[in-house]
Amino acid sequence: MLADIEAMRRQALQELTAAADSLELENIRLKYLGRKGELTRILRGMGSLPPEERPRIGQAANRAREEIEAALEAARQRLREREKEERLQKEKIDVTLPGRRRLRGHLHPLNQVLKEIKTIFLGMGFAVAEGPEVETDYYNFEALNLPKEHPARDMQDSFYITEDILLRTHTSPVQIRVMQAMLPRLPIKIIAPGKVYRRDDDATHSPMFHQVEGLLVDRRVTFGDLKGTLMAFARQMFGPECRVRFRPSYFPFTEPSAEVDISCVMCGGSGCRVCSYTGWLEILGSGMVHPKVLAMAGYDPEKVSGFAFGMGVERVAMLKYGIDDLRLFFENDLRFLKQF
Ligand code: PHE
Repeated sequence: MLADIEAMRRQALQELTAAADSLELENIRLKYLGRKGELTRILRGMGSLPPEERPRIGQAANRAREEIEAALEAARQRLREREKEERLQKEKIDVTLPGRRRLRGHLHPLNQVLKEIKTIFLGMGFAVAEGPEVETDYYNFEALNLPKEHPARDMQDSFYITEDILLRTHTSPVQIRVMQAMLPRLPIKIIAPGKVYRRDDDATHSPMFHQVEGLLVDRRVTFGDLKGTLMAFARQMFGPECRVRFRPSYFPFTEPSAEVDISCVMCGGSGCRVCSYTGWLEILGSGMVHPKVLAMAGYDPEKVSGFAFGMGVERVAMLKYGIDDLRLFFENDLRFLKQF
């Protein structure tokens, strides 16, 4: 009987050392210490022993139980430690791993260029004015010396809302609005950036594009002032080497009128594909404010004069960055936008 107890004790301790998880431990506990376990079975057998032997066997059985219980507790402890260790391993984070960066946006290239244009003219003392995109026929055409049947309206054939209301085809109507608002104060020295709309759509024209209008009205403003202003602008925008050329042109609201070219930003003027081998690139229309326009706005053309210009923002951006398709600005392809 003592041998039975000893064998059971050994067997139990061995199994406990090998147990791999708490379920196994529980099964071992039941197998040896449970109500129908080994120990109970041995103790039941004690009834058939002579009374004088019972205490010895009972003591041995108790010692064995205590030992098994202690080993069980130790095994539980061991498993808990191991599980904790495993969890720590599994949940380990590498704090040296670089963080996930939040994507940072930036201004659209057109807005970057617009900002640059504004900064240059603000530096020369111009203020920024704005006007509505939905404009009346009067401001968009009539007050700019483009009466109803004027052929020059065809060039800007546009988006009409009613007979008399349309999406503005240029920023020039802001000239009139500002002159009317300022009357009779001088000088008037503004730029007017904004969206304009025309019925055009190809690689270099979009139905919506941006212009920056310029207007300076004062006493004794000359064509020389216009040239100096635009040359200063071109050098700041395109670099100190940039040259400027004025070509005679026609606008109903300026007289004389000039188309302004800059020396080609790609070849510097020697001629290349971008400038069609002319060495020059057109950037804006300009001229001296027509006396009729001054008069219609309420100023006396005998006493005051002025110059005006209108440049395309997309065009300036295309030249500055060497972009050959204007539609890229409006497709919102990140591969394009991320380059600026
Ligand atoms: N408004 C003209 C255009 O859109 C440009 C311009 C502005 C010309 C001011 C002369 C003076 O074509």
